[in-house]
Amino acid sequence: MSKRSLKSHTKYSKPAAGKLERKIKALLAKMTLAEKIGQMTLFTAMWAETGPTIDNNFMQYVREGRCGSIFNAYTADYTRSLQKLAVEETRLGIPLLFGFDVIHGHRTIFPIPLGEACSWDLALMEKSARIAATEAAAEGIHWTFAPMVDVARDPRWGRVAEGAGEDVWLGCRIAMARVRGFQGKDLTADNTVLACAKHFAAYGGAEAGRDYNVVDVSERTLAEVYLPPFKACVDANVRTFMPAFNEIAGIPCTASRSLLTETLRQKWGFSGMVVTDYTAINELVPHGVAGDLTQAGQLAIEAGVDMDMQGGVYFTQLEALVNAGKVSPAAIDEAVTRVLRVKAELGLFEDPYRYCCEKREKRRILSPGHKAVAQKVAEKSMVLLQNEGNVLPFNRNLRSLAVIGPLAEAQLELLGNWYGAGDGRKVVSVTAALRDKLGDKIQITTVTGCEVDDEDDSQFKTAVAAARQADAVLLVLGENGNMSGEAACRVDIDLPGMQNRLAEEVARAAQGKPVAAVLFNGRPLAISRLAKAVPAILEAWFPGTMGGQAVAEVLFGDTSPSGKLVMSFPRQTGQIPIYYAAKNTGRPISPDKYTSKYLDCANTPLFAFGHGLTYTTFSYGPVRLSATSMPTHGKIRAAIKVTNTGSRAGEEVVQLYLRDLVACVTRPLKELKGFKKIKLKPGASAEVKFTITAAELAFPGPDLEPLVEPGEFEVMICGSSSVASGQRFTLLP
Ligand code: BGC
Repeated sequence: MSKRSLKSHTKYSKPAAGKLERKIKALLAKMTLAEKIGQMTLFTAMWAETGPTIDNNFMQYVREGRCGSIFNAYTADYTRSLQKLAVEETRLGIPLLFGFDVIHGHRTIFPIPLGEACSWDLALMEKSARIAATEAAAEGIHWTFAPMVDVARDPRWGRVAEGAGEDVWLGCRIAMARVRGFQGKDLTADNTVLACAKHFAAYGGAEAGRDYNVVDVSERTLAEVYLPPFKACVDANVRTFMPAFNEIAGIPCTASRSLLTETLRQKWGFSGMVVTDYTAINELVPHGVAGDLTQAGQLAIEAGVDMDMQGGVYFTQLEALVNAGKVSPAAIDEAVTRVLRVKAELGLFEDPYRYCCEKREKRRILSPGHKAVAQKVAEKSMVLLQNEGNVLPFNRNLRSLAVIGPLAEAQLELLGNWYGAGDGRKVVSVTAALRDKLGDKIQITTVTGCEVDDEDDSQFKTAVAAARQADAVLLVLGENGNMSGEAACRVDIDLPGMQNRLAEEVARAAQGKPVAAVLFNGRPLAISRLAKAVPAILEAWFPGTMGGQAVAEVLFGDTSPSGKLVMSFPRQTGQIPIYYAAKNTGRPISPDKYTSKYLDCANTPLFAFGHGLTYTTFSYGPVRLSATSMPTHGKIRAAIKVTNTGSRAGEEVVQLYLRDLVACVTRPLKELKGFKKIKLKPGASAEVKFTITAAELAFPGPDLEPLVEPGEFEVMICGSSSVASGQRFTLLP
């Protein structure tokens, strides 16, 4: 078998131009060791609590020139007052860098990133990141700790909410869109901020789905699954990186020279700055690779960490390490240069206050334009999981609707987790949004029924009575906002508390009437019970500031749902990890006993990656290929006719999957390699075309370098990853 390696075509960003580098050098020459270490130090101002507080004398340290960056501080006024300390009270007047976790919006909150990813709308994701940057930058923020680009295949892990789901190819594109959105083309512009690719790497592989737990993945899985979205961020010129808390096969990422220097800088050419995660250097001690903080600091700087977030290890240990000859002054200078470089790229040396602007703050924050985009993103993120009997959209001629469930009147919960400077009071609940929309045409009764997560069923009777009386029932169920995100893992990902029973009793009472459930949650849920109890389920994720209105639009058909899942929904928690790009194994499932399966559950998910219904239906013709074979440097065109077979206009995400049938290493049963979003009127058809080249066929070979291997490939084009087969072609040697 002949093999060909594919050369990477990536263009790496060169370090900023000569003038800037000279300026940094000149500044470096004036700095004392303590001042240099100050630039490598980041402390929280605690306007948001994102981890343990170790030391809160940050103002004093800023004044002393011993702290060069601050996070968790915002508003033009506050950041200006802190900036003043650095610029006017320190010897060299080096401006502070302000960081914040702007994860899915700053004040105008968008759906959680996992939900937003279900829109499969890269331009819209870029736009939402730009709006987040615009609002954050007006409040003095220079730097967001986003995007999180961890591929995640274990929904017990709470942080799946912050990423783009289970797929590598899609994850790369979303990562790039988000980096472009945050950073734009010009970092000195007042609507851009530094992005941070996190958490490098394989944080999503935490054993048992438990946050901060160890990760032990093969080098192949690391290269093939976890690293590509990070490489994509480098290709998109992301300016900062954050190593993950976890270890990989014995080496904590914060101490991994192989990751932070050899892969990131030497192999990928990253020229930006590396900041730790929250107190991650300190954690090298409990990890057991450092005996004390001194050794921890040494390991981190040797690995390639430029800035210490909140742990104060560089702050307290580095000077002694340099004086003892254990850390070279050159290593310090390199790290400080990288920090100063990003400050210079933001234009902070020209005007340290350029991002603190009350006028912009007033004009931009929660502006009608931003809210309109937030509503659009929320609508496009929703996934119609099932809709038996076309229960949805609800008919406008209903006379009454019972809105039942613990999240029926929720506001803050709709923001989910990690919602920046968002304000729950600005959120309109589903019930209120329905009332606003429907006026007095449809009488709405609301009953909580039960709390999200407790054992009290005393309100069930009222809920059942309301369901009996109404023409239709909407259940509003899910998780609380704080049940996903960091340190929010669950061992059972079914609906919490009494919600399944509530749904079953309400649906029984409303038999014969339209019953639908809306879900607000931060992860895929194992909702087999709910799916049996109710005919229609709309997955709305945590949809953000405009989520209530967006749900109301979709429920009554003013907008048709068009989202598709980016993470599989298991039937049961015990199936985890479950993802579409699985391998065949040597004993693929069959009726035979000795095959790869469970005794008590199917292998398939309840709702597959790529699945999502709308208010119309689509039919797919056969896949047609332009040839039956392809030379290595050639291309093949694949086409399919997609027809809207229903009675409403609708949008469809047409997905291209490939399978490499025989290769020198085992390959997944299918891998997403393209998609097109189309809109079709009722009865209309479209020819959807894809071009397949060597780039789509490459995979990491035995040496983990990209390899394109001749042989047979299968092309599948469909509306969900659950399709079984397609057309084949041969890649010629
Ligand atoms: C999280 C990071 C976050 C940081 C700062 C950490 O606990 O893991 O994702 O950026 O806190 O808030």
